[in-house]
Amino acid sequence: MGKKITLSVIKADIGGFVGHSNVHPECLETAGGILAGSPLLIDYHVTHVGDDINLIMTHELGKNNGEIHQLAWNTFLSCTAVAKKLKLYGAGQDLLADSFSGNVKGMGPGVAEMEFEERASEPVIVYMADKTEPGAWNFPVYKMFADPFNTIGLIIDPSMHQGFLFEVRDLIDHKKVTFSCPEEMYDMLVFIGAPGRYCIKSVYQKGTNEIAATSSTQRLNLMAGRYVGKDDPVLIVRCQSGLPAVGEALEPFANPHLVSGWMRGSHSGPLMPVSVDASTPTRFDGPPRVVALGFQLNDGKLHGPQDFFADVAYDLARQKANEIANYMRSMGPFEPHRLHLDEMEYTTMPSVSKRLKDRFEKV
Ligand code: F6R
Ligand code: MG
Ligand code: MG
Repeated sequence: MGKKITLSVIKADIGGFVGHSNVHPECLETAGGILAGSPLLIDYHVTHVGDDINLIMTHELGKNNGEIHQLAWNTFLSCTAVAKKLKLYGAGQDLLADSFSGNVKGMGPGVAEMEFEERASEPVIVYMADKTEPGAWNFPVYKMFADPFNTIGLIIDPSMHQGFLFEVRDLIDHKKVTFSCPEEMYDMLVFIGAPGRYCIKSVYQKGTNEIAATSSTQRLNLMAGRYVGKDDPVLIVRCQSGLPAVGEALEPFANPHLVSGWMRGSHSGPLMPVSVDASTPTRFDGPPRVVALGFQLNDGKLHGPQDFFADVAYDLARQKANEIANYMRSMGPFEPHRLHLDEMEYTTMPSVSKRLKDRFEKV
């Protein structure tokens, strides 16, 4: 057995610049400075999508490592200090706990980590989304690993033809189940078609059980018991040689699907693929954005990023997303643009109902 590399992507919104739109450059510099000084890491890349700071790190300490999580936590604390000094908006919003307790899961930040033996060549893509929830990955991950209309490799590459295993999490009941696709595709779709509750956590190659993809499934408001901002999830996908080609892993985003989380975490809108530089939500605090950064790993070193959605090939997807956004906006406060009552992150329903209680007559 060769040595194993862990790729950890840990993210948090520790304060927006301006409002909930972007990250202040001084926060990114602070984060980069701290990671640069850490002896724990092989390599790192600090970036952002909208108002979320993303720490992309490689090391040999495995998943859920206390020292790595502590490093991420301390980095976010230092960034929060900068955010407070600059009076940035919502400074420290995602750091739910007062002190670190060994693992950042459940403390606010989103986490996606995978450990693997680096292949002869190891292309990976880190996806990061703003103004949406973890279930936003269900549709594209399903397409990458189970839809032959997206991924031709499922049909014509003998090493993919057997399909993949999908670990699906129930985020409400805290349970997990694994589906073997294509045989159990229809069963799986019953669940993952409800992305507010069921999320694809990971995908594994059949036979080898090699990790192929993994996502963050932290739901902030479920952890905090109150609205503290949207989860804005991350996803890691390994590519090529028996896994989806880079182009197959990018293809699902050519069709901007509807996701939850736009404006006040309470609206549905299209997920628009953009470059890091264009990942600043504006219109109605959106529309929701997704960025895809490609890296070639080399003994854990992150060569990249390749900012994939900067490409003109995604211009049409952006235009389509803008048209869908325009149409959805025309519905204003009506469902399904506004989310169903159960999914609303902000609501005045209880107080308005209380005030009008005596005006409601029996029919
Ligand atoms: C959505 C989001 C924003 C805020 C909105 C109101 O996930 O982050 O749309 O919900 O800008 O923010 P507050 O309540 O902080 O004024
Ligand atoms: Mg924010
Ligand atoms: Mg955000």
